[in-house]
Amino acid sequence: MCGIIGYIGTKEALPILIKGLRRLEYRGYDSAGVAVQDKGVLQRVRAVGKIDNLAEKVKDHDIGGTVGIAHTRWATHGGVTEENAHPHVDCSGDLALVHNGIIENYRELKEKYLAKHIFQSQTDTEILAHLIEENYQGDLRSAVQSALALVQGTYGLVAMHRKEPNKIVAARLGSPLVIGVGDHEYFIASDTSPMLAYTQKVIFLDDGELAEISKEGFEIFTLRDQKISKPTEEITWNEAEAQTNGFPHFMLKEIFDQPTVIKDALRGRLILEDGSAKLGGLNMTVEEIQSIKRVILIACGTASYAALVGKNAFERLAGIPTTVEIASEFRYSDPIIDRHTLVFGISQSGETADTLAAIREAKRKGAYVRGIVNVIGSTIARETDGGTYIHAGPELAVASTKAYTNMIAVLLMYALEFGRSNRLAIATGERLVRALQEIPEKMKIVLEQSDTIKKMAEKFKKYDDFFFLGRGVNYPVALEGSLKLKEISYIHSEAYPGGEMKHGPIALLSKDFPVFALLTKNSLYDKMRSNIEEIKARGAPIILIATEGDAQALALTDNVIYVPTTMELLEPLINTIPLQLFAYHMAVLLGKDVDRPRNLAKSVTVE
Ligand code: G6P
Repeated sequence: MCGIIGYIGTKEALPILIKGLRRLEYRGYDSAGVAVQDKGVLQRVRAVGKIDNLAEKVKDHDIGGTVGIAHTRWATHGGVTEENAHPHVDCSGDLALVHNGIIENYRELKEKYLAKHIFQSQTDTEILAHLIEENYQGDLRSAVQSALALVQGTYGLVAMHRKEPNKIVAARLGSPLVIGVGDHEYFIASDTSPMLAYTQKVIFLDDGELAEISKEGFEIFTLRDQKISKPTEEITWNEAEAQTNGFPHFMLKEIFDQPTVIKDALRGRLILEDGSAKLGGLNMTVEEIQSIKRVILIACGTASYAALVGKNAFERLAGIPTTVEIASEFRYSDPIIDRHTLVFGISQSGETADTLAAIREAKRKGAYVRGIVNVIGSTIARETDGGTYIHAGPELAVASTKAYTNMIAVLLMYALEFGRSNRLAIATGERLVRALQEIPEKMKIVLEQSDTIKKMAEKFKKYDDFFFLGRGVNYPVALEGSLKLKEISYIHSEAYPGGEMKHGPIALLSKDFPVFALLTKNSLYDKMRSNIEEIKARGAPIILIATEGDAQALALTDNVIYVPTTMELLEPLINTIPLQLFAYHMAVLLGKDVDRPRNLAKSVTVE
């Protein structure tokens, strides 16, 4: 959702801020703005819509200066208008600030303290600007501290003041901020992506912390003004990974990244001679592992479908009852959790508000809580007592692809490690390790069929509705394929387990309602085949994902996409890829904004 970038240093701030905003576009936004100060003048420009609009508009202003802040806004309080875009200023126009999060008691603050102030927007954020103004006595840091003491809600806040030109103040509660340390320059942003071009040295702020940054350095304080020291961390992602590398969209690039990044997820974690895996971040002894009687996988969206694959693996390999919980439901339920329960919070961004709240709840109830996360240093990674980075690299298309397959890879390795600590035979473990090692090459075989899948999308682009069907390991694949199609092409689609069709959904079938079915050669092949026969009998067009060499698939339909065979539990790693490609090509053919679909955000930091 909203994104922040601030700069203080020796270079012109404006180009750095605009480039930074472009790097933040992937999070989803509907307006943007920038404020830069120079020689006692603070200038602000804002625009509705794409960053390009803002970039055009700033050309009409002569904006120089080496200190500035910028923001992409995803509307929560107040419509999508220029007045509501950040940065917001106080009455004097001396103070400018950007804010992610929600100020819950903004009405009360306004009535109680800000009766004399003049407001220009409908946002909760503008309250902060006036509240800081109200407390300002020549020192921005202490004004921010006094103002925040009155605030209820969440914030990642970055402010600057015309009277203190060599200073940026940032504070965090519930919405991430990270400082980037460059060469005589500093960055402050909501995630590392806008600073990767300049530095990989970062300091993550934690909740309740405030940073005061100047051209010469920075200091970190608590909101009560206790000085604290924090280590600088080195991040491994770099700017090159955050480019499209010649692909027309991030999504296609990320789909094609999968054979490479899955190797990054597996590297150093598989132990062939033990038929096992070792995930260093688990932080549990063998005795603790053996004491686990229940696993709960908590996630949202695509991550929850990766979790469903993980459930299968935990139950089959480790014999541990495992449930998948949608985070937004779990957090308000009354879950049965004890010290024999292991909870994994699974999240690409590591910032999803619902997932975060759910794992906090699980922690309070005494479970072991671990993270399976992509973004390094993200809140879920920091709040869990251990866990694993999935190493998918920056995923910038809103629709998740490579993070999904890497989440599955990590879950499979956890299930293997738990299985081998419990009942799983070494021979089965070895087979699984070998099969995992073969996955990258098999993924490449599927990717080579991108053009064939594009032709298939061309043939099916006239339809308004789709079913996705799978059974067993392929049911989560069907769910994910259906979600991808919805997310980026806005076509209505539903996913069902193959055997469930006859209990209702089959009534919808007609020649205008195509069915995308997963019919790979696994233990449920014959059952699934019968389900597809039932569909064929009702005249619905069929597309099949089938195993290489399965000639019988062609008896059911001409539209067959063949995939390489692998161990049944690993099939989702392969079988999902054609569905990702199908959704991608469909969205491109229909002229949709593939990387930034309407209404969606990459990092959902509100409830
Ligand atoms: C949003 C995104 C989805 C994503 C979900 C969970 O809804 O649009 O693509 O699957 O959040 O995100 P996370 O970062 O927690 O994996």
